[in-house]
Amino acid sequence: MQDKDNSIFNRKRVSVKDIVIMKQKLEKISVLTAYDYSTASICDRAGVDILLVGDSAGMVMLGYPTTNQVNMEEMLTFCSGVSRGVKRAMIIADMPFGSYQISTSEAIANAIKFIKVGCHAVKLEGGIEIIDTVKAIVKTGIPVMGHIGLKPQTTILSEGYRLQGKTKISGLKLIEDAKALEEAGVFSIVLEMVTSEVADIICKNISIPTIGIGSGSSCDGQVLVLHDMLGIYEDIKPKFVKRYAEVSKSIFEAVSVYISDVKSSKFPDEENIFHTSPAELEQIRKTLKEKKI
Ligand code: KIV
Repeated sequence: MQDKDNSIFNRKRVSVKDIVIMKQKLEKISVLTAYDYSTASICDRAGVDILLVGDSAGMVMLGYPTTNQVNMEEMLTFCSGVSRGVKRAMIIADMPFGSYQISTSEAIANAIKFIKVGCHAVKLEGGIEIIDTVKAIVKTGIPVMGHIGLKPQTTILSEGYRLQGKTKISGLKLIEDAKALEEAGVFSIVLEMVTSEVADIICKNISIPTIGIGSGSSCDGQVLVLHDMLGIYEDIKPKFVKRYAEVSKSIFEAVSVYISDVKSSKFPDEENIFHTSPAELEQIRKTLKEKKI
């Protein structure tokens, strides 16, 4: 864990420019999801570059079956908690399904809502098919992160969770999408479950950073869902997830010990309780006696 003497704490807020320069300097970009004040604050103190308030919050925090159910109001609540916990990392809000597909003006209005609660950029899933929306949000002055490859909001409706870029048609489409997004002004692109070969071609053919999830090591940065890498969310475990901790086991054990301590009156003990002074207690007893209570 990085401590306060580490130079990372002397750095200012990570900006769009910093992220783009990191690609040029071949410095890898670390990205994690965050959905609440406390964990966002820990990730920020550890020095993560970007915190993504992903729509995965719908599954991980609210137990929805897919990312499609989470709505604007719920996402804004997650974003405002994260923004209060973070001093250095850039905060990116995932625009939920339905918040940018209906009209360009609605997409802009929703993107602005995320900026108002303290986010610094928004992420949208899609390539050429959403290019006008991306351009309009960028024109408003809001930095946009693209997201291609497996797009949980739409790809899974038709195909399920499938690796992308395995065929000539799929690979070329991804490369065209990445190019179009770069031209539209996005500052970086998430590549989700793209074959490492196609991801490598994309990374070498665009000047903005790519952030991979299940897309190999050529990407300029990596993102993982925090609850996956900490071993908290156990419903699905994709192959690309590396477990850095087994937090659900720790929570389970701690909660089991707590229950047993409560049942056996081991908790609370002297360390956890408060006292009335003997003099005040005597007064209370005396008064009770006088009032015959
Ligand atoms: O919602 C999310 O967490 C994401 C990442 C997996 C990139 O979009």
